[in-house]
Amino acid sequence: MNNSTNVVWHRASVTRAQRQAQNLHPSVLLWFTGLSGSGKSSLAHAVEEKLHGLRCRTFVLDGDNVRHGLCGDLGFSNANREENIRRVGEVAKLFIEAGVITLTAFISPFAADRERVRGLFSPGDFIEIYCRCSLETCESRDTKGLYKQAHAGKIADFTGVSSPYEAPAAAELVIDTDQLDIESSVAMVLRFLQNRGIILSD
Ligand code: ADX
Repeated sequence: MNNSTNVVWHRASVTRAQRQAQNLHPSVLLWFTGLSGSGKSSLAHAVEEKLHGLRCRTFVLDGDNVRHGLCGDLGFSNANREENIRRVGEVAKLFIEAGVITLTAFISPFAADRERVRGLFSPGDFIEIYCRCSLETCESRDTKGLYKQAHAGKIADFTGVSSPYEAPAAAELVIDTDQLDIESSVAMVLRFLQNRGIILSD
């Protein structure tokens, strides 16, 4: 749906290619998905730290943070999650145009929503990273105490408890965050980026 009529696209005179050349690396979107407590945010921030140390231009869009501002009007119904992911996909697209290695950490539980975001990008620009972690482990960690509240019926539509999570069928990278420590998980992402020629070394 687009209600913006009579708008004309203005082509930027500084291009993505020029920005990438100045940055000395291509821009790419690392889309972390997984249950609450699966370690998406921790991993995204740890990868960002490593990339920043390698002089890359980076930015993390984090679910909890984005829901304080841009998506503060949205709740956790299926429709609101869809809109959340749509907005984040569009923002990520702008960041990719800006030449930034962008990392997103959203549960993004619905396969169709993630595929819609993938469709905004050229092949290779969107890298889906599934933080695979059993619900039991996420619940036992319960870092924010939200699973406990969800089971007590104090939070509705909670992913894994009263709202579904559709695991990716063909993620570019699957990281078993309940088995690997953070350093090994970061190393997996970095190795992937090296193999793709996005970064030269770590
Ligand atoms: S998403 O489903 O729309 O992708 P998002 O990643 O933005 O979710 O937000 C998830 C975060 O919101 C969780 O890490 C948790 O801290 C908080 N949260 C609050 N209510 C819920 C809920 N009902 N389901 C899942 N997460 C919730």
